[in-house]
Amino acid sequence: MARGLLFFLLLSSIMSTNYARNETQRSSLLSFALTLSSPSLNWTSVDCCHWEGVTCDHDGWVTDQGSISKEILDLSYNRMFGELPLFIPSSTCMVDLSNNNFHGTIPSSFFRRARDLTSFNVRNNTFSGSIPSSICLHSSPLIRLLDFSINKFSSNISGGLGKCSKLQVFRAGYNRLSGPLPEDIYNATTLEEISLPSNAFHGDISDEIVNLTNLTILELYVNQFSGMLPMNMGKLSKLELILLHFNNLTGNLSMLDFSKLSRLTKLDFVSNQFTGVFPTSLYSCKSLKAFRLSLNDLDGQIQPEILSLKSLSFHSLSASRLSNITRVLNILMGCKSLKVLILSNNFIGEEMPNGDGIVDVDGFQNLGILSFRGCQLTGPLPVWLSKIKKARGLGFVL
Ligand SMILES: *[C@@H]1O[C@H](CO)[C@@H](O)[C@H](O)[C@H]1NC(C)=O
Ligand SMILES: *[C@@H]1O[C@H](CO)[C@@H](O)[C@H](O)[C@H]1NC(C)=O
Ligand SMILES: *[C@@H]1O[C@H](CO)[C@@H](O)[C@H](O)[C@H]1NC(C)=O
Ligand SMILES: *[C@@H]1O[C@H](CO)[C@@H](O)[C@H](O)[C@H]1NC(C)=O
Ligand SMILES: *[C@@H]1O[C@H](CO)[C@@H](O)[C@H](O)[C@H]1NC(C)=O
Ligand SMILES: *[C@@H]1O[C@H](CO)[C@@H](O)[C@H](O)[C@H]1NC(C)=O
Ligand SMILES: *[C@@H]1O[C@H](CO)[C@@H](O)[C@H](O)[C@H]1NC(C)=O
Ligand SMILES: *[C@@H]1O[C@H](CO)[C@@H](O)[C@H](O)[C@H]1NC(C)=O
Ligand SMILES: *[C@@H]1O[C@H](CO)[C@@H](O)[C@H](O)[C@H]1NC(C)=O
Ligand SMILES: *[C@@H]1O[C@H](CO)[C@@H](O)[C@H](O)[C@H]1NC(C)=O
Repeated sequence: MARGLLFFLLLSSIMSTNYARNETQRSSLLSFALTLSSPSLNWTSVDCCHWEGVTCDHDGWVTDQGSISKEILDLSYNRMFGELPLFIPSSTCMVDLSNNNFHGTIPSSFFRRARDLTSFNVRNNTFSGSIPSSICLHSSPLIRLLDFSINKFSSNISGGLGKCSKLQVFRAGYNRLSGPLPEDIYNATTLEEISLPSNAFHGDISDEIVNLTNLTILELYVNQFSGMLPMNMGKLSKLELILLHFNNLTGNLSMLDFSKLSRLTKLDFVSNQFTGVFPTSLYSCKSLKAFRLSLNDLDGQIQPEILSLKSLSFHSLSASRLSNITRVLNILMGCKSLKVLILSNNFIGEEMPNGDGIVDVDGFQNLGILSFRGCQLTGPLPVWLSKIKKARGLGFVL
């Protein structure tokens, strides 16, 4: 049955493509299909083998405990090309065509019969046209993962995702998508990951994002989002990654309360239009490993509480109007995990501290990269620099 499906898809691909015109290509595809009779499958975390009512045999083919057998189509990491067939069989529960060279649009009829589809992954192909956001409306209500990343999808995302009552992962980064986020995305309350980086989305991120209580990953970097950052975002206590760099977001970061984000590991706000002072509530995010707040309109000040971030290894706060370099170094040298420290374009015109006591023997234990680029510091090259044993890429522009 599953083999039949492979053939069905392969033949459809061959028939609907202009590429496989000649016999050499055709027969190589066919022989490829034959070698697929026992494919080695690589499950990702969201696969149907782990779900209720579904078991998989050791080869990965799904055998249901009930009467209906489910099919998995995993053609990921091949060199296949061609277009999608008009539909997939009703018993398909997972489609993974990632990392191939498939192209064309996703036919509107494609999902029509696929009532049991739970995962659809076409990452890293050259698909175009629009994203089938109404997938849950008429056809595949059980979908949990949608990955459209790294393709040539364009236009805006229309409504429909809000009807996906199981959707956990929605990825469509590195495409040519535009328009605002679909309004009803905030209705898809099962979402755990929204990953839409490197597109041309605009408009704001709604306060209704707090409805997505299970949200763990929010990646919207390199877009044109604007408007106020939802100040209630700190209520999303499961957040681990917040990557919003290179947008046009505003808001006074002093008012952010991130104190509940105990799982937050990475925060990137670089190059937006945030104002206010350095958000002290970040000091409560004990899992924080990296944060960048550079290139905003902040009035930075670093407090000794930063030492409570025991895992902090990357910190960048360029152009944030920091002053008193002596004080800042005295505090930060206690950050034992710090590997990268970027403080460019701060401390303008201050004197580089040169006393022996500035950095003690234990200071900056793991620092590898330290940048004061553009700070216009005065004074001689300080002695304490030589004490940073592991220093390997000091980016000084004095
Ligand atoms: C058929 O395709 C193959 C592979 O792309 C190519 O090497 C060959 O020259 C083609 N043959 C004809 C007759 O076009
Ligand atoms: C399976 O896929 C994941 C993610 O796509 C990858 O990290 C992992 O290395 C793969 N495993 C094998 C055995 O190919
Ligand atoms: C895309 O897939 C190809 C293999 O088909 C692989 O070589 C390449 O690294 C992938 N690119 C990304 C960004 O994953
Ligand atoms: C989305 O795009 C369609 C046509 O491409 C347009 O008619 C519609 O107004 C756009 N919607 C939004 C919200 O921009
Ligand atoms: C979201 O869901 C609510 C209630 O479930 C509904 O009233 C509202 O229209 C939905 N919003 C959108 C944009 O679909
Ligand atoms: C979000 O939750 C609020 C309060 O529970 C509700 O009023 C609103 O309709 C919800 N929004 C969506 C898009 O579901
Ligand atoms: C959030 O996740 C928990 C644990 O995985 C789950 O029990 C709960 O149903 C989820 N909530 C929503 C709204 O999906
Ligand atoms: C960013 O927002 C400012 C006003 O807040 C506006 O003047 C500017 O054009 C916007 N830039 C982009 C790239 O949207
Ligand atoms: C930011 O908020 C703080 C606290 O509410 C306030 O004191 C400060 O003036 C605000 N800064 C800006 C630039 O709005
Ligand atoms: C810098 O901070 C130190 C405390 O670390 C303080 O003693 C000193 O007066 C400050 N210098 C300036 C110029 O504010």
